Amino acid sequence: MRKRTQRNDLPDFTPENLQIYPLDESETIPSSWYTHPALHTLDQEWIFARTWQGIGHVNKIPKPGDYLLADVAGNSILVMRDKADQLRAFFNVCRHRGGPLATADGHCEHVLKCHYHGWVYKFDGQLRGVPEFNFVKLFDKQDYGLIPIRLDVWEGVIFVHLADDPPPLKDILTGITERIAPIRLETKKFHSRVVYDIACNWKVYVDNYLEGYHLPFVHPELAKLLDYKNYITETYPYYSLQHSPFQQAANFYSREEGEAFYYFVYPNFMLNILPGRLQTNRVIPVDHQRCRVIFDYFYDDVTSPEALQLIEQDIAYSDEIQQEDIEICEWVQRGLNSRAYDKGRFSVKRESGVHHFQSLLKQSYQQVINS
Ligand code: FES
Ligand SMILES: [Fe+2]
Repeated sequence: MRKRTQRNDLPDFTPENLQIYPLDESETIPSSWYTHPALHTLDQEWIFARTWQGIGHVNKIPKPGDYLLADVAGNSILVMRDKADQLRAFFNVCRHRGGPLATADGHCEHVLKCHYHGWVYKFDGQLRGVPEFNFVKLFDKQDYGLIPIRLDVWEGVIFVHLADDPPPLKDILTGITERIAPIRLETKKFHSRVVYDIACNWKVYVDNYLEGYHLPFVHPELAKLLDYKNYITETYPYYSLQHSPFQQAANFYSREEGEAFYYFVYPNFMLNILPGRLQTNRVIPVDHQRCRVIFDYFYDDVTSPEALQLIEQDIAYSDEIQQEDIEICEWVQRGLNSRAYDKGRFSVKRESGVHHFQSLLKQSYQQVINS
């Protein structure tokens, strides 16, 4: 089907495009939802600012005073561990003139200090010190604390939500802990982070993650290791699961036979779980045609020489797969920009995860129309 002329306001938000159809009848979402500049702001506001965002792991900030940064819906967010071992999240924005409290993950001993003019905040966000402010009238420090953000922790994974009254996180993730038992994600130790900048809309990357249909063509080596015939996708209200027994797991961290679990949590968070290993992926929109994907690697053992050798192989192997995915995703973005393409169809057997994601997207966009 050829695409129609794009409107300048909301691209192709027609009742037909927003309607959710069963997998076997459904078309894919229109190409403009991957290519129109207006979608970037809309996605940030209506999807990323209104969903739980997985942004890190408690073991990345193990000591009081440790903090990490994350981008959520275009906002810099700071999560820190206070002296009582509580995690707290704030906008990383000083109340004076918008300077940053931190510019990279790190540690502070007693207070958070703005990098611009040195305003000082306590770990609970209260403004404590304001240099050279003696003659300022009608100024009360109590009115200028850091703005807090909702935070919850599930299996050691830190999630934040920008809304004031979000749905309970545990309801969104219900069933995962039982499914992966006895694997406990909160016991995993952080090893390293790898960041990829990719020339495609964030939804292209997510679509690609959600199906094994491309495995034999894009990742022929990986396809040999996974039991492709038994590669199964299950969908739940807010997440989906792809799982597959792996055969000769020579290139995996785990050398035993076992099962790989690939969880996708709407809209942009992945948990890739093997025995002894957790890899999280976070997809962040940069603009309408670019995204950044952050891989964090966690393992049971991050110190012994044998473990470190396996970890090195695991990360190198993931990187190879990732380069194959990046190449195809960037080609798909070009295809979506082509005047020849607008919408396609789904393989019922292999693309139920993509259909599930795109149905949730439609639900998010229906809210825009109804607002
Ligand atoms: S912006 Fe933070 S002290 Fe000025
Ligand atoms: Fe892939």
